Amino acid sequence: MTDPGTPPPPHRLMDIATGLWAAKALAVATRMDLFSDLSAAPGLPVAEVAARHGIAERPAELLLTACAGLDLLVREGEGYANTPEAETYLVRGRPDYFGDLLLSLDRRYAGWMRLDEAVAGNVPTNFDPRAKESMFDEQDAALKKTFWASMYALSAPSARALGAALDLGGVRRLLDVGGGGAAYDIELCRRYPRLRATVLDLPFVCELTRERVEEAGLADRVALAPGDFLRDAALPAGHDAVLLSQIMHNWDEPTNRSILRKCHAALPPGGLIVISELLVDDAKDGPLLPALMSLNMLVSTWGRNYTPGEYGQWLTDAGFTDVRTVRFSAPGADGAVVAVKA
Ligand SMILES: C[S@@+](CC[C@H](N)C(=O)[O-])C[C@H]1O[C@@H](n2cnc3c(N)ncnc32)[C@H](O)[C@@H]1O
Repeated sequence: MTDPGTPPPPHRLMDIATGLWAAKALAVATRMDLFSDLSAAPGLPVAEVAARHGIAERPAELLLTACAGLDLLVREGEGYANTPEAETYLVRGRPDYFGDLLLSLDRRYAGWMRLDEAVAGNVPTNFDPRAKESMFDEQDAALKKTFWASMYALSAPSARALGAALDLGGVRRLLDVGGGGAAYDIELCRRYPRLRATVLDLPFVCELTRERVEEAGLADRVALAPGDFLRDAALPAGHDAVLLSQIMHNWDEPTNRSILRKCHAALPPGGLIVISELLVDDAKDGPLLPALMSLNMLVSTWGRNYTPGEYGQWLTDAGFTDVRTVRFSAPGADGAVVAVKA
């Protein structure tokens, strides 16, 4: 127990301040694909790692030591080997490969480096808001190449956790509004054999997603509906449930209320709505990941991460009832606010 008269040591502040060092070490090692190298050749001598990448031995050793300090590598022979965590998530081609997400987050540090401007001006810094409406831009080739693949890596575990926490066995047709890479649709269809799903997203995103749905062998159960949930007057009908995963946190309250009214109109009476997100506590004092994701939304969008209480109020105002929050644990979502069309 700390003596109440003694101030706590500053170690925690040092850990917080150096968080970016850890994130950058992981991002650079991932970009160099070091974990795939070490999966194929555990214990590869440091000099050989350096030679393969055409870099000096000094930075190779420092990067590998940092990754070992992060508990992603262990010493083996004259070099290093992956820990089970690195072997599962950081080796390219593995089913749960997380590297696409790490690289996408790393790209967004450009906006985070200008957080002062975002805070001072209440504007996103990851795109130019005078030039475009949102970050979801077909013209941004780098975003197009990485964002939706990275969303899949983030959302597949969230979808599995949601599917286990919330019984969707009674749902026959799910409309996934802004469904992106179809992670939820693929995972939920795998879990619920009688489920069919429709991914509504921008036309160029549907084209990116088509291949993934086909690869999953689910082209007969997951349909793609090119559309625009902001501009289209109505959402596609014929579904008994609507999912909004990491959609609401991209937009401000009036926009979200309008999206929820469209969802309500598209559902039959008794239809289910599910909002899956990293939820900020009603007291707005955490948890840390939703709170930081909310700040990430300041940098990247016009939105923020909202609370169950805020969603509950908007859902009720839109005509939904029986609002409840289902909790689970995943890197991209820690709960879902669920309601029924009266
Ligand atoms: C943060 S991603 C979430 C993707 C997916 N729901 C998931 O959780 O993996 C937001 C999605 O909304 C889509 N989106 C943004 N604006 C849209 C619009 N006006 N109409 C349709 N989809 C839109 C984006 O293309 C993107 O796929």
